[in-house]
Amino acid sequence: MRHQINRRLLLTGALGSSAALAAACATQSTPELRVVETPAAPPSPLPPNMFGPKPGIALLSRNENPYGPSPRVMPAVAEATGQGAYYADTAYLQAMIAEKHGIAPSQVALSTGSGEALAAVAMAWGAEGTLVVPSLFWETTVLYAEQKGATVRRVPLTEAWDIDLEGMEAAVDDSVSLVHICNPNNPTGKLLDPVALKGFCERVSKKCTVIVDEAYNELTDDPDGNTVMDLVRAGENVIVARTFSKIYGMAGMRIGYMMANEENASKISSYVMSWMGAPQVAAAVAAYNDEGFLAMSKSKVAEARAMVSEAVKAAGLTHLPSETNFIYVKVPDAEALRAAMAEQQVMIRGPYGELTEWSRVSMGKIADVERYCMALKAYFA
Ligand SMILES: Cc1ncc(COP(=O)(O)O)c(C=O)c1O
Repeated sequence: MRHQINRRLLLTGALGSSAALAAACATQSTPELRVVETPAAPPSPLPPNMFGPKPGIALLSRNENPYGPSPRVMPAVAEATGQGAYYADTAYLQAMIAEKHGIAPSQVALSTGSGEALAAVAMAWGAEGTLVVPSLFWETTVLYAEQKGATVRRVPLTEAWDIDLEGMEAAVDDSVSLVHICNPNNPTGKLLDPVALKGFCERVSKKCTVIVDEAYNELTDDPDGNTVMDLVRAGENVIVARTFSKIYGMAGMRIGYMMANEENASKISSYVMSWMGAPQVAAAVAAYNDEGFLAMSKSKVAEARAMVSEAVKAAGLTHLPSETNFIYVKVPDAEALRAAMAEQQVMIRGPYGELTEWSRVSMGKIADVERYCMALKAYFA
């Protein structure tokens, strides 16, 4: 029998007094006693601050959730990395997502961030007809398809900065293959009336596919009331996109998913180009139902929103109502504000195209949001 005694245990006395140890060593049952050193943690092979914001930076420009990931993620990723020799199986994650939403696993299409599947949809449907989109939304993936030849029809927002559902419906003709809605919308943060959106989806999905990007759904006051998942469950020609990048705080892990009827889900999967990695899949499985973490994230976002709202009002400004982790603030000059904030190492979004009087700030760590509020106060003093 061979006993290995950790040096740290000896030094901290966890094995009792040295006399007791000597006695233990003298017994017949412990013929060999070997002291091993606790191996020092190997130095990190990564350069310092390779990921995440550089020291001193308040990163409030990218709608991330700095409280993530859930503490359940790290051990899961480590375990999956240990099995990194093998291609990852995604079936369990698909089943988890399907169970939560009352659909079949075959109705879930995974991708490397929802951005990849959104690009896949824009490419697939863009090859078949015109894409109808709002004039202002998170359009990166539609721009991607447009650059590759897709035709895109943009419908202006209403005066109240809402997606114009009537206008979108009127823009659908025989040439249209897809209508893209973002709810809540980015960068406005505004939510559509759920009844109006559902009616819109029911009618329009008879003529073409409707995709609703619900990246921020879990951050809204009533996630179940604000989703169009009922229509996916009913097998309609409606796709819902979700992501682990926002409330889950895993933007850097790159996991997203789409839920759709089987035909659309398999069409999306056939256009998705990447294969999910084991650490990504493990992270998603570990985090998906961590309700405690999700509630904590949501409350931090709400706390930050209240702080920003108050600071905006105190500065004599206004903002659009938001149930997301960002706020769209009306300012005299969004670029000037962005530059002044950057000088204080507070990073916020610059203007969107010609919308030079609107500035988007993301919620972040409370201390960083505090810095934004102070800088806003000083700038408008
Ligand atoms: C509305 C919306 N959809 C999708 C995305 C893409 O997120 P990801 O690819 O990280 O899932 C973003 C990113 O900010 C977004 O704002």
